[in-house]
Amino acid sequence: MTEHRAGDERLREEHRAVVITGAARGLGLASAARLYREGWRVVAAVRTPDRALPLLRAATGASDDDDRLTCVALDLTDTASISAAAKVIEERVGAPYALVHNAGISAAGMVEETDIELWQRMFATHVTGPVELTKALLPSMRAAGQGRIVLVGSSAGVRGQPGTAPYSASKGAMERWGESLAAEIAPFGLGVTILITGTYDTDIITDAGTTDDRDFGGPYARLHQTMNSRGRFAIKFARSPEQFTDGLVKALADSAAFRRHAVGPDASMLLVSSRLLPAAGMHHMSRLVLGIPRQGAMRDGAWPLTTVQRAMVLAVRVTPKPVMKLLTDRAARKAAAPTTTEQESGSNV
Ligand SMILES: NC(=O)c1ccc[n+]([C@@H]2O[C@H](COP(=O)([O-])OP(=O)(O)OC[C@H]3O[C@@H](n4cnc5c(N)ncnc54)[C@H](OP(=O)(O)O)[C@@H]3O)[C@@H](O)[C@H]2O)c1
Repeated sequence: MTEHRAGDERLREEHRAVVITGAARGLGLASAARLYREGWRVVAAVRTPDRALPLLRAATGASDDDDRLTCVALDLTDTASISAAAKVIEERVGAPYALVHNAGISAAGMVEETDIELWQRMFATHVTGPVELTKALLPSMRAAGQGRIVLVGSSAGVRGQPGTAPYSASKGAMERWGESLAAEIAPFGLGVTILITGTYDTDIITDAGTTDDRDFGGPYARLHQTMNSRGRFAIKFARSPEQFTDGLVKALADSAAFRRHAVGPDASMLLVSSRLLPAAGMHHMSRLVLGIPRQGAMRDGAWPLTTVQRAMVLAVRVTPKPVMKLLTDRAARKAAAPTTTEQESGSNV
C-alpha cells in the first residue's frame, strides 16, 4: 500500500498537475492543449464539461481513458460550484502544482451606462470567484511546499480604460490581490505570476463574446463611434491564441515569489509607456489613441468632429472650386447609378 502510494507520488511528480479555468475555448483551450503536449497533467475547469471534453480531446489527441486530461465543472459566479470543483481537483490530482486563473468575460459601455449586475459579474469572475478557488486549494498547495498561481490579467487592467470600466477595474483588482497573495504565500515555497495579456484572436474581443451596454443614441454616442472604429482597427492585429501559450509556459517555469510579465508586443509597449509616463500622461495618451475629444469639448451637447472629419473639412477648403465641382458631380452620378447587387436583388423579387 505504502509502495503503491510512493509510486503515485512519483507519477504525479513526473506529470505536474495544472488547473486551468475557462479552458473550453480561446486562450484557455489553447493553453490546456499546449501544456498537455508538454507533459502536464491538465485539469480543465469549465462551465460545461460535456461540451468541453470532446473539444479538448480533439485539440490534444488524448484518448478517452487518458487521465492526464480531465475536466471539472466550475462556474466562478457560484460558490457551491467552486467548492465542489476544488474537492474534485484534490481527489483527482492531490495538490495541483499550478493554478491558472484564465476564465474571463468582457463588456463595453461607459460607467454611466453599465448595469451594477454587470459589475458584480465581472468582480465574481475575475476577483471573488478566483479568490474562493485559490483559498480552497491553498491548504494542500502550501502543504506541498511548491507551486505557482498564474493570473491572466489584461492591458486594460494596467490603467483604467474608457468604455470598459468594469473589466478594467476587475482586472486591476485581480492584479492587486495577486500581489498581496504573492507576499503571503512566498514563505511556504509558492509563487505568483501575473500575465499582462495583449490582444489575441478569441471570442472575448468579438461583438458576440462581449456584453454590450453602449448606448449609441445617448450622450456618449460620439465617443462610442470613434472608439468603436479604432477598436475594430486594433483587433486586426490580434495574435493567435497559440502565441499566448508561450507566455504561459514561461510563467509556469518562473521560480521567483512574484513576477509580472507582458504577453504580446502591444502589452509590452503599454508596460513600458506606463513606466515612463506619469498618470496624467497616460490619460492623454489613451485619449489620443482612442480619439476622445479634449476636456470640455462636448459641453452643452457639442458634437466635435473627429480627426478624419476635420481633415475632410480642411481638404474641401484647400481644393480649388472647379476640381471640387467635378468631384461632387462624379460622386452624385455614382450615387444615383443602381449597383449590381441592387439590380440582382431587384430581379429576385
Ligand atoms: N483575447 C484577448 O485579447 C485577451 C486580452 C487580455 C486578457 N484576456 C484574458 O484572457 C482570459 C481568457 O480569455 P479568452 O480570450 O480566451 O476569452 P474567451 O474565448 O471568451 O474565453 C473565456 C473563457 O472563460 C470562461 N468563463 C467565463 N465566465 C466564467 C465563469 N463564470 N466561470 C467559469 N468560466 C467562465 C468561458 O467559459 P464558457 O466557454 O463556458 O463560456 C470561456 O471558456 C480572460 O481572463 C481574458 O480577460 C484576453
